[in-house]
Amino acid sequence: MLVLVNDQIKSREDVRIDLEDRGYQFGDGIYEVISVYNGQPFLMDQHMQRLERSARELMLDLPVSIGRLKEKVQALIEQEGRSTCSVYLQVTRGAAPRRHPFPTSATPVLTGYIMDSNPPRDLHAEGIRAITTDDIRWLRCDIKSLNLLGSVLAKQKAVEQGCQEAILHRSDTVTEGSSTNVFIVKNGTLYTHPANHLILHGITRHAAIQLAEKLNTNVKETPFKREDLYEADEVFVTGTSIEICPVTHVDNRAIGNGQPGDVTKQLQRAFYDLIV
Ligand code: PDD
Repeated sequence: MLVLVNDQIKSREDVRIDLEDRGYQFGDGIYEVISVYNGQPFLMDQHMQRLERSARELMLDLPVSIGRLKEKVQALIEQEGRSTCSVYLQVTRGAAPRRHPFPTSATPVLTGYIMDSNPPRDLHAEGIRAITTDDIRWLRCDIKSLNLLGSVLAKQKAVEQGCQEAILHRSDTVTEGSSTNVFIVKNGTLYTHPANHLILHGITRHAAIQLAEKLNTNVKETPFKREDLYEADEVFVTGTSIEICPVTHVDNRAIGNGQPGDVTKQLQRAFYDLIV
């Protein structure tokens, strides 16, 4: 396996991660996951802009320019000879003796590698089941930080209950999924939580909103309640790995008739057309 370290592509065996890297000890870093279709990174500019924003919010200097990073991501995909896969990128504040304040001596480190992934088209046709659970994460979910325990615990709870996603809520207001954004459809209108500090500003979420608008579907970025989920005509989630995927059951209750809905299917088709 090849690994991108800053702007160098190396063999995995030649990469050394320091014991006192702050990503490892504090989760002090950020990441991105980018889908690759036919050897081409999908919506790469949007992912790069979000990486820059996350870095800025954490006062983290990116060790490589975005222009150079894009070239290296493309080179990594080519050298690995991959067509459909995803690219994982992370940047940590670097290695320094373990103390909480930002170290003056550390240099941020970027690492990247190719992960196996396949768009789950079977799930797209069948839909997934979700649970709801309290959103116990911090209040800067807009930063794509390495601190993922709130999401990990929620996803684990879903899996233990035979479900594929956990839909998070704060005092009954639905925020997002553990690794997805959540939409409901009611009387032909789409609702999703506004892009503020309580959710990740998902790139697939944004694409879905744009596609809906093109299809003349009304979209409201308005918070909604857990009860609205149960009573929705359709529920779907969006994310880099899962694309646009219907949710047919929430907390064991069927959404609508318990089958993927028409608005969701229409958006899925429009999304597939974007990929080519
Ligand atoms: N997860 N919300 C959360 C909490 C996420 O972690 C993600 C992505 C999304 C969807 O964002 P996007 O459409 O930009 O992928 C929403 C990534 C893929 C992950 O952690 O694997």
